[in-house]
Amino acid sequence: MSHTPSARPIDDLKTILSVSLMPSYPKHERTDSNDESDVIHVGRLGEFSTDAARYTSSIDIDPRILDSVVEINLAHVLMLQKRGIIENETANKLVRALNEVPADLKLNAHLEDVHMNVEDYVIQNIGKDVGGTLNLGKSRNDQVATALRMTLRKSLLSIMRKLTFLQQVLVQEASQNHATLMPGYTHLQRAQPVTLGHYLLCHEEVLERDMERLLECYARVNKSPMGAGALAGSGLPLDRKMASALLGFNGLVENSLDAVSSRDFAIESIYVCAQIMSDLSSLAEELILWTTREFSFAVVSDSFTATSSMMPQKKNAIIPEVARARCSQVLGDLVASFGLVKALPLSYNLDLQELTRNLWSATDKTEETLDIFAQMIREIKFNSKQMIEAVRNDETLLATELADYLVRKYGLSFREAHQRVGALIKHADASGFLPRAFSEVKEEDLRSVLGVEISKAELMGILDPNSVLSSRTAIGAPNPRLVKQSCKNQLERLENHRVKIDLLEDSLTRARKNLRRFAGLRSRRGAH
Ligand code: ARG
Repeated sequence: MSHTPSARPIDDLKTILSVSLMPSYPKHERTDSNDESDVIHVGRLGEFSTDAARYTSSIDIDPRILDSVVEINLAHVLMLQKRGIIENETANKLVRALNEVPADLKLNAHLEDVHMNVEDYVIQNIGKDVGGTLNLGKSRNDQVATALRMTLRKSLLSIMRKLTFLQQVLVQEASQNHATLMPGYTHLQRAQPVTLGHYLLCHEEVLERDMERLLECYARVNKSPMGAGALAGSGLPLDRKMASALLGFNGLVENSLDAVSSRDFAIESIYVCAQIMSDLSSLAEELILWTTREFSFAVVSDSFTATSSMMPQKKNAIIPEVARARCSQVLGDLVASFGLVKALPLSYNLDLQELTRNLWSATDKTEETLDIFAQMIREIKFNSKQMIEAVRNDETLLATELADYLVRKYGLSFREAHQRVGALIKHADASGFLPRAFSEVKEEDLRSVLGVEISKAELMGILDPNSVLSSRTAIGAPNPRLVKQSCKNQLERLENHRVKIDLLEDSLTRARKNLRRFAGLRSRRGAH
C-alpha cells in the first residue's frame, strides 16, 4: 500500500484540527425574511432562525385561543369604526376577512403566534393597505391577556358545571345513606361513629367552598385588558368600555401596565384547580383504602377498575390513583407559575407566554378529574353491611360516650371520667377483649375500674350507636335527621349554582351574538 507523505505536515494538522473543532450541528436554517408574508420580522429585523421560531413560538398552544383572538379583532375594528378612527369601508373589509379566518387556521411558527397569524391571514386576503390597519391601536400584549381571559371563562364555567354535578352525585349518595352507621377515624384509627351520609356530605361541603372560590375567581377573570396596547395605551381615542362590552366582560383592568402584565387571574384559577384537586385527592385516597379487602367499605364498578397482567384476582381502583398523581401535577403548575412571575419586571415579558401552558394543564386536568369522579361515584357500591358491622363490633368507638355519661350521671370531672374509661379499655386490652371492650368485661371489674356503682345492663343501655347519634342535635352533627336535612339544603344550593352558571353562560352567548350582529355577520365563523 502506497502512502503519500504530505509535503507540509503542519498544514495537515491544522486541517485535521479545524475539521474536528467544527461544531457538529448544522447551520441554522433561515426564514426568507425578504418574503413579504413575514409581517413581523420584515421591518426592524433580518432573518429569523427556524430554531429560534420553534423554541419561542406559542403556536402549539394557540389554537385554543384562536376563536377569542378573532372576536377581539372584530370588537376592536368595530370600536375603531365607531370612534371614526377607520373608514366604514375599511372596517367592513376587515370584518369580512376576519369572518373568513378558518376555525382550524394553520399556524406558522415563523410568525411567532396566533396573533400575527391572524393578522397575516387578513393581509394576505385583502392586501396590506386595508389589512395592515388591523393592529392599529392594539398590541399582542393586551390582545393575549384578553384572549386568555375569554378562553379561561369557558374553562371555568365547564369546571363549575362538572363540580356541581359531582356535588349532586355525592349529595344523592349521602341522602340514601343518611342513617348508615360507619366508623369515623382520626389518625386513621377508629374514633367515633358517624354515618356514611355525614361522611359523604363532608366531601361535598368541601367542594361547595371550591364552587364559591370558582365564582369569585371568575369575577376577577372577567375584566377586559383591551385598549392597554403594548403597555401604555394608545394616542388614538379608543373606547375601552365599548370593546369590553362587545366581548362580554364585566369591566376593565384599568391600569394599562397592569392590564398587559398581570397573570394573577391565571394563577388564582390554577390555585382553585389545585385546591379542587387536593380535595379530590383526599376522597381518592379514601376510596383506595375503602376498596381494599381490609376495609371492604366500597366496590368500584368494573368499568372504572383494572386488573393485573399477572395476578388474575386483582381489581385495582386505578382512577383514584391517577387522580392522586394529577393533583401533584396541578400543584406543580401552580408552583411553576408563581416561579415564573416572581420578581418579573413590568410589563410584558415573553416568560408570561409559558405560564399559559400551566394554566391549561391545570384547568384540563381538573375538569377531566371532576368528570370521571362523578361517573365513578355514581356507580360505586358502598358496603353498608360491612360499615354497620364495623361499628357494632367495635365498642371502643363509644368510649367517649361512656366518659360523658360518667360526667352527667355520677358527677365526675371530664378528665377523671376520661382516665377511668381509659383504664377500662386498658384492662379489656390486657384481657384480650378488644374490640368488645365493654360487653365482655366482668361486672365487678367494671365497677372497680370505673369506681362507680354501674351495672352491665346500664352500661350496655347507653352504648347503642343509633341512639348516640340521634342524641347529637347541634348543627352539623352526624345525626341522621340532620344529615337528611343538610342534603335537602344542599340540593337547593346546587340548584342556585346551576342558575348562576346558566346566567354567566347566557351573558357570554349574548355578547357573542351581539358582536356578530353588530358586525353584520349572520353565520358563525367557519365550522363553529
Ligand atoms: N404569544 C404571546 C403570548 O402568548 C403573545 C404576546 C407576545 N408579545 C410580544 N411582545 N412578543 O403571550
